[in-house]
Amino acid sequence: MTRIAVQTPSRSYDVLVERGLLRSAGTVLRDIIPAESRVFVVTSPRIRRVWGKSLQKSFIRVGRKLEILEMPDGERSKELAQLEKLASRLMKRGAERQSVIVALGGGVVGDVGGFLASIFMRGVPVVQIPTTLLAQVDSAIGGKTGVNLASGKNLLGTFHQPLAVLADPDVLATLPEREYRSGLFEAMKYGVIRNPAIFEMMESKREALLGRDRALLEKLIADCVRVKAEVVSADEREGGERRILNFGHTVGHALETETSYRKLLHGEAVGWGMVAAALIGYALDKTDSLTAQRIISTVFAYGPLPRFKAQGGQVLKRLLADKKTVGGVPHFVLATSMGKVEVVKDVPQRVVLQAIEEMKNLAWARV
Ligand code: GLY
Repeated sequence: MTRIAVQTPSRSYDVLVERGLLRSAGTVLRDIIPAESRVFVVTSPRIRRVWGKSLQKSFIRVGRKLEILEMPDGERSKELAQLEKLASRLMKRGAERQSVIVALGGGVVGDVGGFLASIFMRGVPVVQIPTTLLAQVDSAIGGKTGVNLASGKNLLGTFHQPLAVLADPDVLATLPEREYRSGLFEAMKYGVIRNPAIFEMMESKREALLGRDRALLEKLIADCVRVKAEVVSADEREGGERRILNFGHTVGHALETETSYRKLLHGEAVGWGMVAAALIGYALDKTDSLTAQRIISTVFAYGPLPRFKAQGGQVLKRLLADKKTVGGVPHFVLATSMGKVEVVKDVPQRVVLQAIEEMKNLAWARV
């Protein structure tokens, strides 16, 4: 088992990565979840159908019971109303302050489950068991929770570090293809921002990764988690270094919002956002042409990315409403070489507009 520590001022915990981990979750969590705590699992109907029984059995084996609460999946369910519904159901089932929430699912379930845990009775512990690649390498780690507003992504949320994160690469075998690829874009981000070996692995092992080679996937997840853990441990609340994790997210979030969370999966929006960052970086002479080309062609190698029709001016407006905008100025994370990035605050609007137009015309773009 790979055990990667996240050490933040609010809490220190481990991210565990191992094939088959979901089936032994009860044993692993026996020492982490106090014996007197009731355990409430927040999950989606699909994940419950596929993995609910395995998790239940693993708890029964150690004499513990799980209670399950379902919520719909999909970015459009990441809304405030969902929290109220879940909290009312927790109350009806008799949840109390000592209860623990387990978020079993992808990024949406993790963000909503984590948010719920952070505010229910002013806060109860949460364990994250991510079931998508995107959540295993990114959203389940680092304590960010949140829901969307129509005006922007993750505009309401909290920092609530989990008790533990359990990432089982085997659960990815049942992930729909589009979801799986969406997670690969988020994995690619770690190569660009910190560890070129991740990027090189994605360039050279495309077939095996798309074929979900289990050993390779386990390595990819562990390598990405190491970067995430390092960055979050250095800067829990995104006062500085953590901003590098937003590579591809500035334009990505704007596109998601502008397309009403209907057209693009989060990872796909990040894929487009990384293309935008490469074009913007190149236009500003921050990113050399080889690095920009490598980023763009590797994104498309893991495509197809759905086309989007958003107008540049509208995307710009969305950028200005994003959390990453400070004093009316959007912040962009741009690559200065493979494995190194810089936060840039003075990107002229015309350069952003030009990048968006170029993206629409890219010959590789497929539906
Ligand atoms: N997904 C970006 C972060 O956790 O900071």
